[in-house]
Formats: sequence, structure tokens, C-alpha cells
Amino acid sequence: MRVLVIGSGAREHALVLALRRDPAVTALFAAPGNAGIAQHAQVRPVDPCAAEDVVALATEVDADLVVIGPEVPLVLGVADALRVAGIPCFGPSAAAARIEGSKAFAKDVMAAAGVRTAHSEVVDNPAELDDALDRFGPTWVVKDDGLAAGKGVVVTADRSAAREHGAELLEQGHPVLLESFLDGPEVSLFCLVDGETVVPLLPAQDHKRVGDGDTGPNTGGMGAYTPLPWLPEETVTAIIEDVVQPVAAELVRRGSGFSGLLYAGLAIGAAGPAVVEFNCRFGDPETQAVLALLDSPLGELLHATATGTLAQVEPPRWRDGAAVTVVLAAENYPGRPRLGDAISGAGEGASGENATVLHAGTTQREDGTLVSAGGRVLNVVGVGADLAEARTRAYERIAAIKLPGSHYRTDIGLAAVEGRIEV
Ligand code: GLY
Repeated sequence: MRVLVIGSGAREHALVLALRRDPAVTALFAAPGNAGIAQHAQVRPVDPCAAEDVVALATEVDADLVVIGPEVPLVLGVADALRVAGIPCFGPSAAAARIEGSKAFAKDVMAAAGVRTAHSEVVDNPAELDDALDRFGPTWVVKDDGLAAGKGVVVTADRSAAREHGAELLEQGHPVLLESFLDGPEVSLFCLVDGETVVPLLPAQDHKRVGDGDTGPNTGGMGAYTPLPWLPEETVTAIIEDVVQPVAAELVRRGSGFSGLLYAGLAIGAAGPAVVEFNCRFGDPETQAVLALLDSPLGELLHATATGTLAQVEPPRWRDGAAVTVVLAAENYPGRPRLGDAISGAGEGASGENATVLHAGTTQREDGTLVSAGGRVLNVVGVGADLAEARTRAYERIAAIKLPGSHYRTDIGLAAVEGRIEV
């Protein structure tokens, strides 16, 4: 199987590494990829959002499967263009990707499917912001109503901070989504979905705030771990039966059946799971931990999803133990990050079997120097017999990487190790 992966982050690096472990995958390509991906796949400088160029590349490399990582090409219909060209694609149509691209569509689907989610209102007029804020909070959840890679979200008990963020978004011409606050620990459950067939992967937990102890602004994700020792098996079953399956069925009913990865982001409160958001693709950085434990051939699972035969393949098998992703971010991230700094100590030669360095925002200068090229620069994924060991391995490895001004959280998965998460 010849596979083309679209995207350029650590999630796509993890997809490429997992695909490389599948003996059926005979050739790997990536567009545009990054310096780490280039060590395992032929990379091509194609814009993921340029549908015609992606189709032309998939045709040129004779791809049997295209795997689309990020949400923007999906929302723009790149998967549709590939299907029209007869090329199997892992990723939903633009119509189904609205589950992430349009908050109003997602809320409507959830209401029709009887799924618990936060009450919300969209504000697009600054004159209505104050009255709307009075109907919410405390705590206030203020989101950019468009695709904002997690960074458009402010969750705060401070009304003036909520107002400031809402006013700033409106000033930039972005409608604001206000949501009631959902209490309880968050879970990311990724499911392979092919119409009404739903196959869950391991549940994971993201760490969205930039600082230890969940302090500071939201980011695209500073780390993740899987599995979740505090999450009862019956809660996972309830999420699949009461949340993901009804939503998948509702999308089929609307003629927008989902094919790809449906990501349910949930808060597990006293009344049970409630949906924070749906995404139409693998989550980042949870995927990096989840795929580190996958023991089944990933190419087969993704190809079956893409070709409507998911119900016929064996469910995924998992390695025992745990995996932890720690994100190394550039100075000033999640503000405007400092770019172009030399990185040392990230070489794969230095990675052991139990700690892998994945590239997120990197590039290689002509002289061969690896430099930072994004806010989230590298990820380290540690694998161990349990969460504590996986953490130790990830943190030992990340400590050996040098990037001036960089920072990372030191408490990824720590609350779970210390038994501080309860549902
Ligand atoms: N883990 C957050 C996201 O992928 O959107």
C-alpha cells in the first residue's frame, strides 16, 4: 500500500511512524511534512489546502490511500476532491467536517442526537456582549466561533477577562461563542468512524494550558497521556453508545455520513459525560501517545475506514502500559513564538525504544542545522509499563534537548499518577 500523509506537525510524524510499522505499507509520502517526517517519508512541498495540487500529487505517487491530518483541508473539501478522483481518503467530506468547522452545525447535530453538551450562544455584535455575558458564568467560556486551533478559547472566572477576550475577537471580525462551563476532568476519545460503524481508540487526556497546574493561556496542547487509569470502562462504553454512535447515525441521516476520525472531547461531570467539542480529525498531541501503544497495522485500519469496510477488520490491539507526550514549545508560545533557533539533542539516534522525538515545527537549514519553525517545536513520547515510567522516560529524553528560550510543562499526567483525578 502506497500512502500519502497530508500535514506537517507531530501528529503527522506519529502517523508516519505508525504507518511505517505496518508491513503492508510499501511507500510513504508526506506533504508538506517537516524535518522529522522527511527521515521516513518522501516529502513534497504541496499546500495541504490546495485540493487540485493534493489530488495531482496523490495521482503522481500512485497513492492507494491519502490520510489528511489537519482540519482546515477537510473543512475546505480536500477529501471530497480526492474521492471524486477515485483515490481512497482517510478524512471526512466537507459536509461532515462541519462537525468541527461550524459550532452551530455541531450543536444542531448533538441536539437532534440527544447528546449532552454545553448551552451556548453566538454573539456577533459588540452591543450584545455584556447582556450575553450576564447570562453565563461564572465560570465564562469564551471561544472564537471559527477554527482557532484551541488558542481562541478563554476559560476564566474573571468577567472582565472574559469581556476583554470577547471584545477582542469581535474587533477582529470573529463571532464569539459563549458556552456554559462544563465541570469535571476532560477526556479525548478518538473513534474511527465509517458511516454508522464506530471503533474507539484508547481514551486520552490533553493538557491545554501553557503552564504547570493548568495555569496560563490555552494552547494547541502542551502534552497528553493514555490510557486514563481513572476512567471507568463503563464510562467509555457510555461515551460510545450515548454520544459517538448517535452523532454518527445523525450525520448519516442528514446525508453527511462521517468517514475518518471523529474526536469527541468530553468533560466527565457528576451527571456523566458531556461534549465540549467534536473534531473531525486526529487530536494533537493525544494522537502521538495513542499511536505509540497501537499494536495493529494502522494502514489497514485507515484504509478500511476510507473504503467503507471498517466493520470487517479486527478491532485495534494495544500494547500494555502507558504513553506520555510532552510538547517542547518555543519562547513566547502561545504568543508570537521566536523562530529560527538552532535545536540540538533531538537526533533520533539518541532516542531509545521507549522515548521517541517527534517534530512539530522544525525545518532544516541548507547547512543541515535543525531550527525551530513553529510555536510547538518538538514532542517527546515516552512509553512505559505504567504512567509513572512513561513520564520518567519522556522527561529524561526531553531534558537532553537544547533550544534557547524553550519551555515545557513538567506535570503531564502527574495528577493521574498521584491519583488526584476522580469521576
Ligand atoms: N487536542 C486538541 C486538539 O487536537 O484540538
